[in-house]
Amino acid sequence: MGRLDNKVAVITGAASGIGLATAVRFAGEGAAVVIGDLNEDGGQSAVRQCRENGGRAVFQRCDVAAEADIKALIERAVKEFGKLDVIFNNAGLGGAVGTIEEVTVENWDRTMAILLRAVFVGMKYAVPEMRRIGGGSIISTASVAGLSGGRGPHAYSAAKAAVINLTRSVALEVGKDRIRVNCICPGGINTPLLYNRLPGGQETTAQFLSQIQPIPRAGLPDDIANMALFLASDESEWVTGTAMVVDGGLTAGAALFDRAGAPQLTVPGGFSGPSFEK
Ligand SMILES: NC(=O)c1ccc[n+]([C@@H]2O[C@H](COP(=O)([O-])OP(=O)(O)OC[C@H]3O[C@@H](n4cnc5c(N)ncnc54)[C@H](O)[C@@H]3O)[C@@H](O)[C@H]2O)c1
Repeated sequence: MGRLDNKVAVITGAASGIGLATAVRFAGEGAAVVIGDLNEDGGQSAVRQCRENGGRAVFQRCDVAAEADIKALIERAVKEFGKLDVIFNNAGLGGAVGTIEEVTVENWDRTMAILLRAVFVGMKYAVPEMRRIGGGSIISTASVAGLSGGRGPHAYSAAKAAVINLTRSVALEVGKDRIRVNCICPGGINTPLLYNRLPGGQETTAQFLSQIQPIPRAGLPDDIANMALFLASDESEWVTGTAMVVDGGLTAGAALFDRAGAPQLTVPGGFSGPSFEK
């Protein structure tokens, strides 16, 4: 028995990286998956991988910056598989880069359309379908860049922070309909989004990512797929309005280091005060 038996899921950005890993995982757990992406070859390959993993899947080309494309993706799920239980608003990119003076208004708007407005549109058209069947799970990909500054370009960071609060806001509205709304904040995941931008490619990116957080390996798409699976399944039926951080400890805080560079998790010299005195 699969953890997503009889569920129907729409996943955007599922031709690559986190979305692809999630589609394959969902299919393996019994879900029927509608894959939406700009990348047609990658989308068709994702369908094949879902089927090889024992699930049902179809691909539909979709630009998440276009309202009509997202609406059509949800309609496809209902037409093809009869209903919509889960939507994973995940498609994304680095977006506008540069200093605050360099970023153009056009590039800012385009970034927001893909990273933020698309999440709103996905929620907008998913909610009535989920209400019709008595509930559902809306999952969106935010980022650790939405939790603090300095972890992504300006527009990216702003969009991801907004996804986190949109998640909370909508969760309050639709909880009564048994629709859960959550997002995931990944840390550094070794996908094309990162390794196509960093010098040195996938191997070098893996090495770099293995050093930036307490758990000494790069994040993998499956790390996020596992969280998405939990949020899509009935195991999370009392979980809503959350921003689930999956980052190998990146945002847990900064450890104190001793002179040899080893993390020093206790205060040098020990604790003092009445409770510690013999
Ligand atoms: N990789 C990381 O370290 C990391 C960290 C935090 C958050 N994220 C987020 O995870 C999500 C997935 O990214 P990924 O790392 O798997 O990257 P990825 O590049 O492997 O996959 C992104 C997918 O989105 C698709 N896409 C981009 N623009 C689109 C559009 N307008 N319409 C439809 N599809 C579009 C791409 O074709 C691609 O298949 C993104 O929202 C990203 O911001 C990634």
